Amino acid sequence: MKGYLKTTVFAIIIFGVLWYFIGTKAALDFVKEPELVFGLVILLIVILINSKVRKNLRQVRFDKLSDEEKALETTAQANWYKNLMQKLTATKPIEEEQDILMDHAYDGIRELDNDLPPWWLYGFYATIVFAFVYIGYYHMFDGDDQTAEFNKEMAQAEADIAEYKKNAKGLIDASTVEVMTEQSDLDAGKSIYEANCMVCHLADGGGSIGPNFTDDNWILGGGIKNVFTTVSEGGRDGKGMIAWKSMLSPEQIAQVSSYVLSFQGTTPAAGKAPEGDVWSED
Ligand code: HEC
Repeated sequence: MKGYLKTTVFAIIIFGVLWYFIGTKAALDFVKEPELVFGLVILLIVILINSKVRKNLRQVRFDKLSDEEKALETTAQANWYKNLMQKLTATKPIEEEQDILMDHAYDGIRELDNDLPPWWLYGFYATIVFAFVYIGYYHMFDGDDQTAEFNKEMAQAEADIAEYKKNAKGLIDASTVEVMTEQSDLDAGKSIYEANCMVCHLADGGGSIGPNFTDDNWILGGGIKNVFTTVSEGGRDGKGMIAWKSMLSPEQIAQVSSYVLSFQGTTPAAGKAPEGDVWSED
């Protein structure tokens, strides 16, 4: 029965550890570190061999015992919980208490000079070791405190976001948009333009209801960022240029804006007179 209890406790512990690892998925990332996995496997093998060897040694020793001793040993093994508690607390049995009885008495109350219980003592030693590690790491070698850790994580997160935005075309906004030069983007821009914009701005950008895109003058500002904003948010109220952001994705707006800018400096068949101010990048 005791054996089952032992196995059950063991199984619960292993289950708990696994549960913890699965619950916090990031903890499983260590699987990606081959050195760590290799180290763990070696450790496991060493533990297995070690326990096997010790088991054999115990068996050899056990076989040499007399029958009486064997019986004693067997009951002792059955009492593994008691043994464990004895090891952790190092209490003296009542029969031996006179050895540690101190020689003073207060109104008949007497005191035992017990050893410090090992569970407590080793816990205390552990705090001392921890303190040295802590002082060394944080105070002598300037380990990161929470603020520094936070700042580092934030900087890393910002770098990650920037990297992500650079590669994710769908996330373009007016502050990150750049002129697209890839032919595939310009071709996409051209077909969006011909489907949605040509009616008012004409195929060659010369302008009719909407203004001319070939000159240097802009009503709402030139350059990719302004053009992107105008296309997504629309022109001035009542002028006829609607906001396209509900119909076109940011990527499409960037493509058509880049296409619009490619009209700059070309000569349209019938260019509309310049409107707005001459715009320059600075
Ligand atoms: C219904 C006609 C119409 C359509 C369709 C139209 N526009 Fe316009 N667009 C205008 C008008 C009118 C203006 C001037 C707005 C103002 O004065 O505020 C304008 C202004 C602009 C401007 C700003 C020009 C400047 O000088 O600042 C850009 C850029 C622009 N349109 C791009 C587009 C794009 C790209 C599309 C297609 C997705 C499009 N337009 C579709 C009528 C239109």
